[in-house]
Amino acid sequence: MMKESLIAEHERLGKWVVEWIIDYVRSLDEVRLCSEATASQLEKLFDEPLPRDRMSAEEVFEKFRLDVAPHAMNIPSPRYFGLFNPTPLAIGVWADALASTINQNGAVWRNSPSASVIETRVLGWLCEIIGYGEKSFGTLTSGGSEANLIALKCARDRAAEGARDNGVRSSTARGNLIVYASEQCHYSFDKSVDILGLGRANLRKIETDDRFHIRTDALRREIENDLRSGDTPVCIAGAAGATSTGVIDSLYELADISDEYNIWFHVDAAYGGALALSEKHREKLRGIERADSVTIDPHKWMFVPFACGAVLVRDGGRVLRDGFDITPEYMSEDRGGHDVEFDLLRYGQLGTRRFNALKIWMALKFLGTRGYAEIIDRQIELTEYLANLLDEMKDFERVSPVETAVCCFRFLPEKVGEKDYEAQDRLQLALQQRVERSGEAWISTTVLKDRRALRVNINSFLTERRHVDDLVELLRRESRKLIEVR
Ligand SMILES: Cc1ncc(COP(=O)(O)O)c(C=O)c1O
Repeated sequence: MMKESLIAEHERLGKWVVEWIIDYVRSLDEVRLCSEATASQLEKLFDEPLPRDRMSAEEVFEKFRLDVAPHAMNIPSPRYFGLFNPTPLAIGVWADALASTINQNGAVWRNSPSASVIETRVLGWLCEIIGYGEKSFGTLTSGGSEANLIALKCARDRAAEGARDNGVRSSTARGNLIVYASEQCHYSFDKSVDILGLGRANLRKIETDDRFHIRTDALRREIENDLRSGDTPVCIAGAAGATSTGVIDSLYELADISDEYNIWFHVDAAYGGALALSEKHREKLRGIERADSVTIDPHKWMFVPFACGAVLVRDGGRVLRDGFDITPEYMSEDRGGHDVEFDLLRYGQLGTRRFNALKIWMALKFLGTRGYAEIIDRQIELTEYLANLLDEMKDFERVSPVETAVCCFRFLPEKVGEKDYEAQDRLQLALQQRVERSGEAWISTTVLKDRRALRVNINSFLTERRHVDDLVELLRRESRKLIEVR
């Protein structure tokens, strides 16, 4: 393709995309949350042969407009109250376009000079936000799952010397290598202990109290049991914003226990880490600064588009370099200076890395920590507002405290037997389905202590009181209908 045609193409496609985005964002308040198509209907829609002949880019884009977009979940809507999936900031969306255009490969500094240095700056800012000192560093990741994996790998390497080079069996560790987290921990912990050769059975899921925080007495008991059995504790993982409930474990106490037993302390703050941006709510994270490592996902509560996570390490790049450093022969020339320190492949699992730091860098400059704090404070206030409305509603019962912007509750009408848990579980699913089918909002469900609950997260910075009022009205309406049909 000639340069002139590439220029013309960018111009034409850019206009098309800008117009489409403007229309889409304009429609966000009214649009149905999700399409009614089933997976098999969509499978048929996209059951296409491998394209052999050329198609104009405009025709391809039309396919997006007609077939793709109408069947997308409208996550950026202010009426999306689902998982930790926010409306992305415009500056983040366009930062992604810029990053794609210059297509830096951040594996090594030579291929991404400004990008690599900006990434280290952004990591420094994230460390500062959570209260880490000068020495700390980290690595950007594809998301919280990879961040948790990297943190656990650092923890494993500390507890099991030699594991990196010779495998766990030949390391200094005795018995099984054990990771402790609450029974509310994210599923990436199950995956990570498997990938690291520890085995899923060696993830101790510690029970939680009635507010879904890890029980530290039970944690101590498990550690003592494992030590008596000759096993090796590797890591204690606390949650700062648990996936189901958004609650925050007692991080300071977990840090004390980790110190006492000399165990790596990790905090999964993929979602809740952003609380550190708020003067008002930062105290909830007390103790996070004592963690050996912290997961924080800018693509959750920092409103940058997917996919963009980070893991931060208190003792800095040295720990990550010990775990991951490698010098392939085609990168082995001595360039002099300290630019090798910006070869980010040495600090984590990724090779080729997208210039994701750009959107965090731009978003932080655009909003400032004060701008973030305003949004986060408002979202928590809205969640408390919702919780108060639910508390006043007959037949609804709240089941978790509001510590972030998540609220879990159940619909429990008198008609359903007090102890008929199966019927109650079915009712929560049925109500979620009704909300979903209405297209007017989207909420999720979860399971808390073996019982199904409804879950709302105020995700979007576009959400206002009126959207919460509408959601409550929708819950009232659909729950009434649900009782009528029983
Ligand atoms: C607490 C927590 N940790 C980790 C993750 C994993 O993050 P990701 O989906 O970005 O891999 C999630 C995802 O929701 C989460 O809620």
